[in-house]
Amino acid sequence: MARLQDKVAIITGGGTGIGEATCQRFAEEGARVAVFDVNAEAGSDTVATLSEKGAEAQFIEADIAAETEVADGIAKVLDRWGKVDVLVNNAAIPGVNKYTHEVSVEEWDKVFSINARGVFLCSKHVLPSMMEARSGSIVNFSSIYGLIGNEDLPPYHATKGAVLMMTKTDAICYAPYGIRVNAVHPGSTKTPLFMKAGETYPGGLQHYLDMMKEKHPLTLGEPVDVANCVLFLASDEARFVTGASLVCDGGYTAQ
Ligand SMILES: NC(=O)c1ccc[n+]([C@@H]2O[C@H](COP(=O)([O-])OP(=O)(O)OC[C@H]3O[C@@H](n4cnc5c(N)ncnc54)[C@H](O)[C@@H]3O)[C@@H](O)[C@H]2O)c1
Repeated sequence: MARLQDKVAIITGGGTGIGEATCQRFAEEGARVAVFDVNAEAGSDTVATLSEKGAEAQFIEADIAAETEVADGIAKVLDRWGKVDVLVNNAAIPGVNKYTHEVSVEEWDKVFSINARGVFLCSKHVLPSMMEARSGSIVNFSSIYGLIGNEDLPPYHATKGAVLMMTKTDAICYAPYGIRVNAVHPGSTKTPLFMKAGETYPGGLQHYLDMMKEKHPLTLGEPVDVANCVLFLASDEARFVTGASLVCDGGYTAQ
């Protein structure tokens, strides 16, 4: 049997990058997939690709920072498919790359509104149906930047640390309902977000890729490498795993 047979999954930020790869892997393993994204073109493209391959999928245009959009989107999924088994809180932005003393309150709040409040809102509105079903799996996206410091992106680091703690607390609060909550911590993975950071790096993209490769004992990650970790946590194979941090970083944080 496929690993997510008959499961309904919501994947935020499923239009591109790791989210898109996760949509593809989930569909290959039998899930019905709802793609939540602010980018309507990218989200619709993901759904079109899944549908061409024979999977059941729907696109929901939603900004995860906006509570009504999240609540309405989840209601649509429940109307159509009657349940949500898996929520993947993947969507996030890097935000400004400035030292703390240079960051404005607006810049700080923007990153938190998506990376932390977005995770909170999606979980908040999915949990009641999971509690009623007395089962569910939530996979939150932290980062290696939620585990260690580095000389960049202070607000992003802070949001990813927050997601780690939200994961542990929700894991404990909802375990009595049979709901598991885990976090993934990707290292550098070749997605649009990562490549964009490289393009503005002094010395250019190739210099950035070479420099980042050196920092990862294995090599840089592909989106599917992270998607496979999410798939494990989402599936019943991980039924004894909750509150865990799955680091998928090619050895970056082992050093
Ligand atoms: N790529 C990496 O190297 C890396 C490393 C560590 C952690 N991560 C984490 O992995 C996750 C995915 O990253 P990625 O590299 O695939 O990013 P990406 O930028 O390639 O894709 C992010 C997707 O989220 C969507 N999105 C952004 N804001 C949104 C909002 N407000 N509402 C709904 N959708 C929104 C975008 O439209 C896009 O489709 C993020 O949580 C990121 O922090 C990535």
